[in-house]
Amino acid sequence: MFKLTAKALACAAIISCAGLAQAAEPIVIKFAHVVAEHTPKGQGALLFKTLAEQRLPGRVKVEVYPNSSLFGDGKEMEALLLGDVHMLAPSLAKFEHYAKQIQIFDLPFLFDNMEAVDRFQASSAGKALLTSMEGKGITGLAYWHNGLKQLSSNKPMHEPKDARGMKFRVQASAVLDEQFKALRAAPRKMSFAEVYQGLQTGVVNGTENTWSNYYSQKVHEVQPYFTASDHGLIDYMVITNTKFWKGLPDDVRSELESIMVEVTAEVNRQADDLNNEARAAIIKAGTSEIIELTPEQRAKWREAMRPVWKKFEQDIGKELIEAAEAANKG
Ligand code: LMR
Repeated sequence: MFKLTAKALACAAIISCAGLAQAAEPIVIKFAHVVAEHTPKGQGALLFKTLAEQRLPGRVKVEVYPNSSLFGDGKEMEALLLGDVHMLAPSLAKFEHYAKQIQIFDLPFLFDNMEAVDRFQASSAGKALLTSMEGKGITGLAYWHNGLKQLSSNKPMHEPKDARGMKFRVQASAVLDEQFKALRAAPRKMSFAEVYQGLQTGVVNGTENTWSNYYSQKVHEVQPYFTASDHGLIDYMVITNTKFWKGLPDDVRSELESIMVEVTAEVNRQADDLNNEARAAIIKAGTSEIIELTPEQRAKWREAMRPVWKKFEQDIGKELIEAAEAANKG
């Protein structure tokens, strides 16, 4: 009698657990970022949501919070470590307090083009940076492209001397701070959400960013000049809370990882198009002049900014810099 009851109880427990599993609430993944939706990162987050909910129906729900609507600069990393948000994709300029080597991506004129960035990110040296913060509870899932940075200002800038004495908004990055100091300009660290107002009120006179970020934040309305400098990079590392990610059911994590590979390829494929579209829209708006540089002028900007490399060589590592430079050779 007792044995039957125990067996019956065990079966009942399995059925009810199965039933509970069926009815279990989906795992909620909060994905926050600071840019508009019609940008490479904005589109990537939405595509990740779509594919995750399609392929893991009822098991995963992704909540995307664009435009600093949940957490913005200065708050997002702490929120991730506390588990108040589960995924971010900060600019690579925002990791200096977690992994000094990631500053490599801020070195001006390091990469000749996005193909070189691709090659470095896909190299063993580039991939190693994705897991370089796990000791601090942060796992890198992928690199996402945005594009090369252009300068913006309230007066025309053709050569480095034109930037002297001007106040430039920079991301919270020691490398970018030094980059503008090398031009004898005055860098001002400011969150992305404050850029438009900072430029509108004259707190800063100019900044640097990609065409898609400029247009989506309407920066062309408050900046009469852009200099098409291609002087640096804005790319992203998609990151998650290591404990959260490792705590996911194996099949869910494995599916999300393969979705991330698919989304990364799509983000990187369309980034160029989104930036070219934004540049064309700025020209069409007619609010600003886009100054093209001659090769001689661009060489002057490179020469003026290049000393920044030496200042950070110890932090980043000579070998890593050489590996990144090698990626320019295809
Ligand atoms: C910035 O702060 O300018 C960028 O990091 C914004 C972004 O995430 O593209």
